Amino acid sequence: MAEEAVLGYLENHEEIRDSGEFAAERGIDHNEIVNVIKSLHGFRYVDAQDIKRETWVLTDEGKTYATVGSPEVQLFLAIPPEGISKDELQKKLDPSLFKIACAQAAKNKWVEMGKQLITRKVQHVDDKVKELLLKIQQGLSIGSDEIKALKARKLIVPQTWKGYSLKKGPNYAPKRKKVVTDLTRENFQSGEWKETEFKEYNYSAKGQPLESGNLHPLLKVRSQLKQIFLCMGFEEMPTNNFVESSFWNFDALFQPQQHPARDSHDTFFLEAPSTTQTLPEDYVQRVKQIHESGGYGSRGYAYDWKREEANKNLLRTHTTAVSSRMLYQLAQKPFSPKKYFSIDRVFRNEAVDRTHLAEFHQIEGVVCDRGLTLSDLIGVLHDFFSRLGMTKLKFKPAYNPYTEPSMEIFSYHEGFKKWVEVGNSGMFRPEMLQPMGLPEDVQVIAWGLSLERPTMIMYGIDNIRDLFGHKVDLGLIKKNAICRLGID
Ligand code: PHE
Repeated sequence: MAEEAVLGYLENHEEIRDSGEFAAERGIDHNEIVNVIKSLHGFRYVDAQDIKRETWVLTDEGKTYATVGSPEVQLFLAIPPEGISKDELQKKLDPSLFKIACAQAAKNKWVEMGKQLITRKVQHVDDKVKELLLKIQQGLSIGSDEIKALKARKLIVPQTWKGYSLKKGPNYAPKRKKVVTDLTRENFQSGEWKETEFKEYNYSAKGQPLESGNLHPLLKVRSQLKQIFLCMGFEEMPTNNFVESSFWNFDALFQPQQHPARDSHDTFFLEAPSTTQTLPEDYVQRVKQIHESGGYGSRGYAYDWKREEANKNLLRTHTTAVSSRMLYQLAQKPFSPKKYFSIDRVFRNEAVDRTHLAEFHQIEGVVCDRGLTLSDLIGVLHDFFSRLGMTKLKFKPAYNPYTEPSMEIFSYHEGFKKWVEVGNSGMFRPEMLQPMGLPEDVQVIAWGLSLERPTMIMYGIDNIRDLFGHKVDLGLIKKNAICRLGID
């Protein structure tokens, strides 16, 4: 009905100046008219222009008076021709209205407030207030003095009113044409298609988002890091064993059996199978010896090394377990220099908080060659980290059971304006390398860092549980950008 009214009116009229008045005059709800205008405008049947007006709406009090009449008229009507005492009159009226009713009626000179009696001064009164309020309710305009008075009595408040003025649009027709979306067999055969108006294609409509797999940010960063290692001539180590024996995870790395990291508070030990089946026996003997009594110029730890402890299976606590296996294998052949890397998952029995999980990923680089020095380590770290976009590095002496010297790596974060720890590094000790059988003049430099830390910084995530685990927002994983390391 609203649509017919709008299109019909425009057939013989230039314009509809004000949708509000148009609606009021026809008794159509303005919201309905607005919806019709929006749709007609979209299809260019009409050209609509926004109009805004300061209008007035009734307060709750105003709404009450608009239905039951103003308090002053209620008071006037309650006074019988012979007059009434104040007490009696008060009983007839809503107590909350009595004061205001008296004040207004007196002001209008409708009543005489005698000491004994209240009497009518006029025969008849009109409820102007009610009339005005009704007009406002219908969207009709009233005089500015009247507005002022109603506003002062808090019966109306201002409100911005939005509507439209409209003219015929380029596609104007007195009736909306049904546009056809499909050419059918029927309208083709009948020839009807010649007269039919087909709906135009909307070439700028967006397509449905594709259902597809999405790479997790950790995987994106990992593949970039892999690329960096490959560019630097590193080979990837096989990391496909989450379960490792204590031997390769700790003993081979000259980590004493009573070291606190080997406690079940820090490491997840396996219940089944609880121990490893095979270890290279002659090498095990050499490891036992270096722990108990040393060798190659070392005094060892001087304790009773236990095979059962070395046999215990665990979830590897660092990817250095993989490096130790690889270096042992390397030592079984005539020596050739190697550059190895790995990026994979490790596990620690840690309290979970916003920066720690019980499982995370480590990135590890290992270089072995004759005559390597700490300067080589510093050099390769500068090369590696600058490819990640970290050019300012600082090193701090640290301790690892398997490296000497050891260095923590710090990078200056331009955004945070401070030095942040980004990794750990060192030169593997002779107590680790000699029992493996590597030539005496071969040095191994290595470093490790977590994959989560740089990923969180890069993707602006400050709680690790938003990155990894069951609470991760899949929508975010779908939307996040590709990763280009070292490029701002
Ligand atoms: N394994 C060490 C860690 O878990 C990292 C590291 C690797 C340190 C290689 C030195 C050399 O933190």
